[in-house]
Amino acid sequence: MPVLSVAGGGNGHKLDPVSIDLEDKVSLQRGATIFVNYCLSCHSAAYMRYNRLAKDLKFSDDPKESEKFVAKNMLFAADKIGDLMKAAMPIEDAKDWFGVAPPDLTLLARYRGPDWIYTYLRSFYLDEKSPSGWNNTVFENVAMPHVLYEWQGTQKAYFTKNEEGVKVFDRFEMIKSGTKSPQDFDKDMRDLTNFFVYLGEPSQLKRQRVGWYVLLFLALFLVVTYFLKKEYWKDVH
Ligand code: HEC
Repeated sequence: MPVLSVAGGGNGHKLDPVSIDLEDKVSLQRGATIFVNYCLSCHSAAYMRYNRLAKDLKFSDDPKESEKFVAKNMLFAADKIGDLMKAAMPIEDAKDWFGVAPPDLTLLARYRGPDWIYTYLRSFYLDEKSPSGWNNTVFENVAMPHVLYEWQGTQKAYFTKNEEGVKVFDRFEMIKSGTKSPQDFDKDMRDLTNFFVYLGEPSQLKRQRVGWYVLLFLALFLVVTYFLKKEYWKDVH
């Protein structure tokens, strides 16, 4: 992951670091909501089931209520709570429209890393030469349109040339503001990135919990052995 995090599209755009916190349930829930509403129309997350999502992200303390919440608010592209998170759009249609099929995003965070995702989501810019009208500084000639431009606004990218004459990214300029402030948009993209990290390895949530139990056990064990030692050595002196 660190290797991938160094640079973005090979054009000098440094990746922006993002802090990931899988304990932050509210952030994961928000990320999941954005994903279901704005991404699942084209992309699948086909290794994940809705009921697992309900269980892990705890939309309510009561597991039954959490499932009900997901069933009511997130099942746009599926019928049953036990279904896999398949894309709403048939893959053949997507290919016809975009030239490439939108990839499944279940394992995205594993092969791209969180910093790349966070930067990608915030780096779409206007490009008249691109078929969709958009381009991205960390994914050159990306076929995906900027689906969240209403939130972020519309930005232009400026490039310069380095000593070797290679085009390098310089800066963005916001030419039309979005409905969200830059801070709120960044926060949403952080939540979405957080969600992708969870999605790539859902058992991490459980593993962290197990980790705490192990530490607790070791601490208790230490106390027990201390008293045992005292007991054993009591008559030796
Ligand atoms: C209108 C369809 C559409 C929607 C909606 C959409 N995407 Fe995409 N996305 C694509 C297509 C097509 C590609 C393939 C781009 C390419 O290969 O040039 C893509 C590529 C990507 C990639 C790059 C994957 C990789 O590593 O190669 C990421 C990340 C991504 N999308 C995330 C998202 C997220 C997050 C959302 C929701 C906010 C979203 N997409 C919504 C069509 C869509």
